[in-house]
Amino acid sequence: RSRAGDDAGHRRDRNQLGGEETATSFFCHVILQDGHSMAEDTKDTKSSNQMWGGRFASGPSAIMEEINASIGFDKKLYAQDIRGSKAHATMLAHQGIISGEDKDKILHGLDTILSEIEAGQFVFSRKLEDIHMNIEARLADLIGPAAGRLHTARSRNDQVALDFRLWVKEELQKTEAALSGLIAAFLNRAEEHADTVMPGFTHLQTAQPVTFGHHCMAYVEMFGRDRQRVRHAIEHLDESPIGAAALAGTGYPIDRHMTAQALGFREPTRNSIDTVSDRDFALEFLSIASISAVHLSRLAEEIVIWSTPQFGFIRLSDAFSTGSSIMPQKKNPDIAELTRGRSARLIGGVTTMLAALKSLPLSYNRDLAEDKRAAFEAVDGLALVLPAMAGMVATMTVETETMRKAASQGFTLATEVADFLARKGVPFSTAHDITGALVRLCEERDCELHEIDDAALAAIDARLTPDIREHLTLEAALDARMARGGTSPARVGEQIERLSRELARQRAWALDYRGPTP
Ligand code: ARG
Repeated sequence: RSRAGDDAGHRRDRNQLGGEETATSFFCHVILQDGHSMAEDTKDTKSSNQMWGGRFASGPSAIMEEINASIGFDKKLYAQDIRGSKAHATMLAHQGIISGEDKDKILHGLDTILSEIEAGQFVFSRKLEDIHMNIEARLADLIGPAAGRLHTARSRNDQVALDFRLWVKEELQKTEAALSGLIAAFLNRAEEHADTVMPGFTHLQTAQPVTFGHHCMAYVEMFGRDRQRVRHAIEHLDESPIGAAALAGTGYPIDRHMTAQALGFREPTRNSIDTVSDRDFALEFLSIASISAVHLSRLAEEIVIWSTPQFGFIRLSDAFSTGSSIMPQKKNPDIAELTRGRSARLIGGVTTMLAALKSLPLSYNRDLAEDKRAAFEAVDGLALVLPAMAGMVATMTVETETMRKAASQGFTLATEVADFLARKGVPFSTAHDITGALVRLCEERDCELHEIDDAALAAIDARLTPDIREHLTLEAALDARMARGGTSPARVGEQIERLSRELARQRAWALDYRGPTP
């Protein structure tokens, strides 16, 4: 017997073991529910083994079928799969590889399938394993033998690389738009609160006065970097995989530039082995999503702290908070907490992807069927938390009086005293010591820096002249910080203006992506 015969015989024997089928299918129903209905399981249809025909003498065991099936989640790629197949068939006909008549049948059949799926009428079969074979089998039902020509000069390996890349590209574009929404919310709040004083913190201890506008603009910078990463990721993945075939390329006279162009890619990929092995586009998306999630989580943490009665810096709108079932006075920052919690799962997603890739030899390995779930979940997560946090930021009430009061407590203007002395020629370290003595005196007397009388000032150091008090206001401290990046309202105003213009420009770019970042 040949080796192939042995394998087939072995499989047949196992499938004939009476009890195994029943036990296995019960087991499968219990453990493998990917959101597919029982109708899918029981539908009598060709199995994937029959799809690849002659080599297999029998069908798969029930457990093989269960572990093999990815349709429960990869059906999400139906639109990309159909787009890709239409571009491929059109190119095949253009190159004279299939007839125009077959191409027309294929395109028409694919359109029918698209509307069936969108109308919820398509029956997905787990026996047919994945989205590619589900669609191809239905195409054969609809148009007969011409359907068999669609898979000329391609493999599921380049097909899945294409579908997944198209999907990630679209999701990156949506992520960019959602990030822009969040950035716009912060720009609006920054403009509104360009002069609102709040305490700035280090170690969560009151440090120096800043403006709330300046604090909002810190988030504009942070989420602006995320958006930049998204744009670079779009550029990196913007190459068409289709035509790499199984791994070695194809001998048919295909035109990969034609399919690349039809599918909106900048150009075709250059190495067929890399093309079917590569999932960097998904990894990059998941990394970016995780970085953004961590940023959102830091913001969430601030919202949680600021909205406590102890801080009282902000009040959340009713639309973006919840109450307690037992304590009527409570208003909880659930969105912020859930966002902080979600970030854990997004971090898990990138870890999953890294771990899945780390030991894979080139080129395609079946492990790669597992790569999509992490990306799908990341998208679901981000698509929720980005607009939720944007809405929360846009609608929260800023308690300007509370912020201002907090900004003047805790000797936040002590640095002004040290700077005043240093400007008079006192070395900064000596100025620091003198100021320390002044702060100690204020603590003893339970008063503020500007309340110390002239004689007591002079007793600490003769250079502590009464005109120091001009510098001991919150506004003076803000205005003094004029150097690039500082909190002076004039500087922050310039940043708001510059970044608002930039946002408008980038939104226009995002709507009409054609090439590299302007
Ligand atoms: N569903 C498969 C995936 O997600 C498609 C590629 C299968 N290719 C293969 N040679 N088994 O990766």
